[in-house]
Amino acid sequence: MSIEIDVLNGDASWPVVEPLMQAVWPRDVVEKLSWGHVKWAHADLRVLIDAPQESAKAGLACHVGIYFRTVTWDGRKVDIGGIGGVSTRPDCRGRGYATLALNAAVQTMRDHEAVRFGLLFCEPHNEAFYQARGWHRFEGEVYAEQPQGRVRFDAMAPFVFDFTRKPRDGVIDLCGLPW
Ligand SMILES: CC(C)(COP(=O)(O)OP(=O)(O)OC[C@H]1O[C@@H](n2cnc3c(N)ncnc32)[C@H](O)[C@@H]1OP(=O)(O)O)[C@@H](O)C(=O)NCCC(=O)NCCS
Repeated sequence: MSIEIDVLNGDASWPVVEPLMQAVWPRDVVEKLSWGHVKWAHADLRVLIDAPQESAKAGLACHVGIYFRTVTWDGRKVDIGGIGGVSTRPDCRGRGYATLALNAAVQTMRDHEAVRFGLLFCEPHNEAFYQARGWHRFEGEVYAEQPQGRVRFDAMAPFVFDFTRKPRDGVIDLCGLPW
């Protein structure tokens, strides 16, 4: 059985992705979470994985959003790649789809030569998942824009993926909405 992996425009592919996101993060559940109030950026690109056509589970199985942003790290501008909205349909988990999609997202970021490192935010129960896939904890502070202005963004823990830079500490300003 073959697996299809696509990297598509973020806005154009949103209608295909929305049902998966609603299933994984229902609005009534999200509202009660510590990050339920956060206003998020929209993905620039999306990695989509369809379950094999011939299986009973055909259809969109996994999603990873990709973001490109010029941020500042300790006051210096740096181009980075962001990862967000990592989600696999509950009935398709444990088959390596999220790992495949993450790898495709990292490769896509790597293909953009200006990108110095990757950055994602995750809840404590997912930290081991990302650490096992080469992501490192960023111990410094992160700031982001929200409707009320610039805020310290500590709703979730930041993790970085090293390309040409290996940030572990300092201050990252996302210079826009978080992802
Ligand atoms: C986390 C998630 C994306 C993993 O998707 P998946 O397609 O099942 O992942 P994979 O099949 O590639 O990898 C599964 C492996 O990761 C492990 N794993 C899954 N969740 C984990 C976690 N929270 N911590 C540590 N390991 C985890 C599994 O045990 C499995 O290990 P194995 O390969 O040794 O058997 C999926 O569980 C999900 O959608 N969760 C809800 C949404 C969410 O929390 N997303 C992350 C946002 S930051």
